[in-house]
Amino acid sequence: MLKSTLIEAAKAGAAEIVRFFNSDFKISNKEGVNNLVTEADHASEKAILSVIKSRFPEHQVLAEESGEMIQDSAYKWIIDPIDGTVNFAHGIPLNCVSIGIEHNGEMAMGAVYNPHLNEFYFAEKGKGATLNDNPIRVSEETQAVKACLVTGFPYTYINMPNGPLEIFERFIRKGVPVRRLGSAAIDLCWVACGRFDGFYEHKLEAWDSAAGYLIVEEAGGKVTDFTGSKFSVYQHRLLATNGKIHDEMLAVINNKKEL
Ligand code: IPD
Ligand code: CA
Ligand code: CA
Repeated sequence: MLKSTLIEAAKAGAAEIVRFFNSDFKISNKEGVNNLVTEADHASEKAILSVIKSRFPEHQVLAEESGEMIQDSAYKWIIDPIDGTVNFAHGIPLNCVSIGIEHNGEMAMGAVYNPHLNEFYFAEKGKGATLNDNPIRVSEETQAVKACLVTGFPYTYINMPNGPLEIFERFIRKGVPVRRLGSAAIDLCWVACGRFDGFYEHKLEAWDSAAGYLIVEEAGGKVTDFTGSKFSVYQHRLLATNGKIHDEMLAVINNKKEL
């Protein structure tokens, strides 16, 4: 019931994404210059919440647009109704619904659905990760210098020593391809299925990382903060890799090693 509700909720949100995509929707600004929210973000979130509340009204919820609903339950649904809103607003088909389910403080299940590419990623703790029901695995690359990486930049770039641009420069100057797709949930899933060897970002929120974090781990990858410690969705810095280039990437991120 938990899994079927998660899948139904992700599909309900994605139906709203598809309905509004490339149409004339209302856009407004959140904190930061290009931190957008559209009518579609609200419609997707409403559709997702209505599925969850109809089955599990007692569960807790943390949703990007409507905030936190704290209740006496071991379950918490962590929802990003559109991850990649800037892409969505520009008609770029790299955006998705991301929903993670936390149980007693640990991620138990996650779903990321990009309806434009018809890619549905799913993971359950201890049971592996899938893309459209087919098992996925991280890549086999063992050297960061040969890796294909992805990152993202925060909406408000306050002067950060050892920040996103400095780290980006360290990889780019060595000729390492570092992509920037604009959806952290998709970045994580593309590490999980081996398209990317690593992903790092400085300022993620719980709804950006909750589902993708579990999907990477269940696909055999590694996710930590920038010190190499166990990742928590409630802190901002995330490094996700195939596991094999993790230590090397940590050393470059922390400026302890040149590639
Ligand atoms: C954003 C995307 C982007 C990342 C930002 C996030 P949103 O989420 O995941 O890739 O760089 O940090 O806020 O605003 O599109 O839901
Ligand atoms: Ca997001
Ligand atoms: Ca969002």
